[in-house]
Amino acid sequence: MTFRLVKQNNMQVVSIINYKGGVGKTTITANLAAELAFRGYNILAIDLDPQASLTFSFVSVDEWREKYEKSVTIKNWYDAFIDEDSDLDLSSLIIRPQTVNRDIKKGKVDLICSHLALINVDLELATRLSGASQRQVRNNYLRVYSRLKQGLSTLEEGKYNFVLIDCPPNFNIVTKNALVASNSYLVPAKPDYLSTLGIEQLRRHVSELVKDYNHYVDETNNLQWEKISPLMLGVLFTMITIRNQSAISAQKQYIEQVKGLNIPIIQTSIRENNTIYAEAPEYGVPVVLQRVSGKTYKEIQDELEKLTTEFLNITNEK
Ligand SMILES: Nc1ncnc2c1ncn2[C@@H]1O[C@H](COP(=O)(O)OP(=O)(O)O)[C@@H](O)[C@H]1O
Ligand SMILES: [Mg+2]
Repeated sequence: MTFRLVKQNNMQVVSIINYKGGVGKTTITANLAAELAFRGYNILAIDLDPQASLTFSFVSVDEWREKYEKSVTIKNWYDAFIDEDSDLDLSSLIIRPQTVNRDIKKGKVDLICSHLALINVDLELATRLSGASQRQVRNNYLRVYSRLKQGLSTLEEGKYNFVLIDCPPNFNIVTKNALVASNSYLVPAKPDYLSTLGIEQLRRHVSELVKDYNHYVDETNNLQWEKISPLMLGVLFTMITIRNQSAISAQKQYIEQVKGLNIPIIQTSIRENNTIYAEAPEYGVPVVLQRVSGKTYKEIQDELEKLTTEFLNITNEK
């Protein structure tokens, strides 16, 4: 198998990641993708979570079953690698969800769907890591962990401005594939005790991954491999409970704690609103692009727009 070595031409790959589930990763990915596309950027969203929430935010379960489940998901792409050691063209798995794109004039949101059986892929990939010699172990490590990076490098030049990867809530091989492929990562978190602990842990694990990966790259003489350095864009606080225009004091305390860890923090934070966020996936259009009037809606949409502007600033893509 040969890898094409194309540098990711102006295409920024960003992972949205946190070990914890239910912190708003998928919601943030969907809204960023939609708003960026609305502003004229071309976006590829990749759902790497077997729970497939991002997929079902853009396509209905029925449509997924009918059209994509069997052969048009990220699982099929990993399966080809595992079963046949072959390259399925990543772009053959890209779909364009209709509902969200109907309201977008200039840009577009494309999607690679997930699959509930993606969970098994991790185990299969793990068996690919062993080798009889150190050299084999090293080569297998680089091949397995750079799988998605290599896949993305085959996309047509200039087709996408951003690839947004919605990660599963773990640090398994598929998640590491996302980080290895990424220029940067964004960490949505709730301001509570466990989330605060989790952020430090995540940062540590990312730096271990980077160290191991780059160590292997250093050791091989093969110029096909490049070192990685995914940049942490920051912690994005989500599900903030607002009282009297600001977060409640318990949450403020956790936000302060994270600031003390010397970790970048996204200035925009996302308030909690169960009604508005819970219903969004059913429409196939994320909250930020929904045409609904009302003061609360507007406040929430403003927040998501502000987040998008900040995202563009920190990724230098204004
Ligand atoms: N700001 C928010 N306020 C209230 N509920 C939210 C908010 N963001 C997301 N949710 C809801 O919380 C649940 C988990 O969000 P999700 O984005 O799926 O998290 P994750 O991807 O981290 O598991 C979903 O039901 C979602 O609709
Ligand atoms: Mg999710």
